[in-house]
Amino acid sequence: MNSLAKDSTAAAKRTGLLSNQIIINGGKPLRGRINVRGAKNLATKAMVAALLADTPSVLKDVPAISDVRVVTGMLEAYGVTVTETGDGELTLDPGNVLKAHFAKIDALAGSSRIPILFCGPLLHRLGEALIPDLGGCRIGDRPIDFHLDALRAFGAVVDKSYEGIRLTAPDGLHGADIDLPYPSVGATEQVLLTAVLARGVTELKGAAIEPEIMDLIAILQKMGAIINVEPDRVIFIEGVEKLSGYNHRALFDRNEAASWASAALATGGDIFVEGAKQQELMTFLNIFRKVGGAFDIAEDGIRFWHPGGILKPVVIETDVHPGFMTDWQQPLIVALTQAEGRSVVHETVYENRLGFTSALIEMGANIDVFEEGLESISRRVPRRPLEQAAVIIGPTPLHGADVEIPDLRGGFSHLIAALTAEGQSTVSNIGIIARGYEHFTDKLQSLGADFVYEG
Ligand code: EPZ
Repeated sequence: MNSLAKDSTAAAKRTGLLSNQIIINGGKPLRGRINVRGAKNLATKAMVAALLADTPSVLKDVPAISDVRVVTGMLEAYGVTVTETGDGELTLDPGNVLKAHFAKIDALAGSSRIPILFCGPLLHRLGEALIPDLGGCRIGDRPIDFHLDALRAFGAVVDKSYEGIRLTAPDGLHGADIDLPYPSVGATEQVLLTAVLARGVTELKGAAIEPEIMDLIAILQKMGAIINVEPDRVIFIEGVEKLSGYNHRALFDRNEAASWASAALATGGDIFVEGAKQQELMTFLNIFRKVGGAFDIAEDGIRFWHPGGILKPVVIETDVHPGFMTDWQQPLIVALTQAEGRSVVHETVYENRLGFTSALIEMGANIDVFEEGLESISRRVPRRPLEQAAVIIGPTPLHGADVEIPDLRGGFSHLIAALTAEGQSTVSNIGIIARGYEHFTDKLQSLGADFVYEG
């Protein structure tokens, strides 16, 4: 079994999926109502933040996804007691933080990127941190140089050992001036989680300002932190002596909401996404409307549907917030295979996030991927060639195929493509989807999808 299949099987087990493969009979519109809970990309970080406190935290709307299980396991390995105190509610008690056995964290760290964010909190609590090889989606190199440079600026000493990366802070951590070469989401979170308890003031320039980061800042403020978000991606953090636990309802998962919206459009369906909110989805909603999708914003969610008629092509360039998110392009591309004309999707954040299109091509889509990207658009992340463009010409009917899921968002796109396609598809490695989509097979069932578990 290759490592992707292993990760997928483990994620399927963690989330109670009945198997790692399904057979879909596509060609039927998805219709109905589903709900989205807290964002994977906030809830997992909020859980790490609980390590910084001296009293328990309560996090609400935590999704039942594999990445949450992995972070739970990591926290437990460090002595944090994680208790389910309600439906989607976790109480995290950091009263007894201790060094973890390497084998325990090594077994978990390979499944996610989140462990890198343990560095600052562990340095504060234990004076050292050990980060084994990281996992997460295989969507490019995904280096951690911004993280390590920032930690060094706080006074951490970074050593590479055979087990991974070992960090120590012989003189404690102090405030720092940090200028990120790119508004990295993870590196911004790293700085926030470290600076809040560091001695003195930290000035972070070039910060990411995604809604999930703003929600993390709100959590840290509840805990007692002093954080000022200034214009032009500058954040000031005044270190404090101690932080207490928080009580917080996680921001909804806008990536999941956008995925279901795209599923409604691609399959010619109509889905009410309970829990979705307009503010954090504005850029997505504009593109959805331009393509020809309809939406209606209600107090408790957003209804997305295909109003009939012809879908229109668009040109999209992925970007940091408030631009069009890299996580939204994959599901939308499936809908674009049904638009009349030529669409262009330029991926500028990751270097390997269009690989999933090969399965769509096998299903009948007309997509060309240009490895070098398009000359007219500049590189976003310094030093590395990060661009790729997909040109999609539609409409093309899709037909069933056997597809193996490569990563989280690409995998959800494969699901949508199989549901849009006429005929039967076998979709394997669906456990990868369970990393970030809660109860997705139950939701598919309630939307009228025709599928059976296999194996
Ligand atoms: C977060 O990844 C999300 N993951 C990603 O979601 C999301 O696509 C991404 O932000 C962008 O919004 C989580 O929150 C767990 P970055 P992150 O640091 O923090 C390069 C999903 O499907 N870079 O903003 O890892 C990096 O390689 C996922 O939910 C460096 O070069 O993203 C990438 O090209 C996948 N050095 C770019 O920056 C570094 O030290 C953006 O990465 C760090 C990043």
